[in-house]
Amino acid sequence: MINPLRGMKDLTFDDSQRFVHIVTTAIGVAKKYGYGYIETPILEETALFKRSVGDSSDIVSKEMYQFEDKGGNDVCMRPEGTAGVVRAFISAKLDRQPVKQKFYYFGPMFRYERPQKGRLREFHQFGCESFGEASVYEDFTIITMISQIFSELGIGFDLQINSLGCTACMPPYKQNLVGFLRETQEELCEDCNRRIDSNPIRVLDCKNTACQTLLVNSPKLIKNLCGECDTDFNKLTVLLDKAGIKYEIDTNLVRGLDYYNKTAFEFVSNDIGSQSAIAGGGRYDKLVEFLDGKPTPAVGFAIGIERIMELVQMPEVTRDGIYMGAMVEEAVEALFPLATAKRKETKVTLEYNSKGFKSHMKGADKVKARYCVLIGEDELANGTVWVKDLESKEESTILINKF
Ligand code: HAM
Repeated sequence: MINPLRGMKDLTFDDSQRFVHIVTTAIGVAKKYGYGYIETPILEETALFKRSVGDSSDIVSKEMYQFEDKGGNDVCMRPEGTAGVVRAFISAKLDRQPVKQKFYYFGPMFRYERPQKGRLREFHQFGCESFGEASVYEDFTIITMISQIFSELGIGFDLQINSLGCTACMPPYKQNLVGFLRETQEELCEDCNRRIDSNPIRVLDCKNTACQTLLVNSPKLIKNLCGECDTDFNKLTVLLDKAGIKYEIDTNLVRGLDYYNKTAFEFVSNDIGSQSAIAGGGRYDKLVEFLDGKPTPAVGFAIGIERIMELVQMPEVTRDGIYMGAMVEEAVEALFPLATAKRKETKVTLEYNSKGFKSHMKGADKVKARYCVLIGEDELANGTVWVKDLESKEESTILINKF
């Protein structure tokens, strides 16, 4: 028997219904905020992710599904959605148009991580990317939108926010931080030591408790932001306060992807174990330019669909549609035209095997139909159907062309 690969899962039955409910709900909200659908290829040039997510990030340095295709091209299964959307935005020359563009997407992402609860090698994200809006109002709006998605899905969350500064305040801070890290180098873990040169900011979110204790005294970017970043970050907190969206400022929240600047955020849940991040995102004002487009500010997020699957409150199943069945063999075909006509309006379950009354009633109940429509010998002779409303329990016999 061939099984799915490690860290990859089939989505069936209850899970697939949950998946569809999550995506449909998220799309409904995204549309209300003016987002349109974008689909980009799963396979992209490896260079795209190296340049955007960052060479030294864990995703690129350790977790890529990277291979040479039959034409000798260095390609990669997307580990995340933002890079592809930015590439598509530039490919379509949208960076040269003055209008703001907003896209939503959902689909599989691939990271060769060590699988565990909440951490898969193939997982699905629902994401949104907003291009052309530099105002922090857009950061606030995006956070509001995610809150609305989670609220409609019945999911509680904690929100963590931080500012990663900009090209004016990040470089001097980085220098300052590297100075601090060099002083504590001997006590920091191996990973952190490697990162001092390659990506010092990532040291801040090391999960090692000994490192975290040392980092309590590290310089904090939030206290060293330039005037503009500081004003924007304060504005964001005021807007969130006014909207009643609770948050925590986490000065060590740096995110695992290199393209962020200014606002960075994560939504976490305490109900799903150690892989608690259910959504993440932030601003990435330099990425379009970095991938050879015209400078365009941008901000976005992605929700991890599998991580919220078990948290979602599914709507109650209500009776819906029609179950049709025949009690004599000759009547089965009489139901086809009726089923075809009714399928233009509602769901129809047509049972091909003629069987007894009780058996049909069970069948109708199993598919949670609202109406059970049966044809027996008498109905066939009279051109009628027997109908039962399974909610009101009302029964009637009506002409087949009047149903
Ligand atoms: P990310 O934080 O890497 O951000 O991923 C977003 C979400 O995907 C995470 O919060 C988590 O719920 C889910 N996720 C990540 N890795 C796994 C995994 N191995 N198994 C299951 N779920 C996972 C991004 O990907 C950015 N592109 C988000 C973004 C969009 N930023 C701006 N625009």
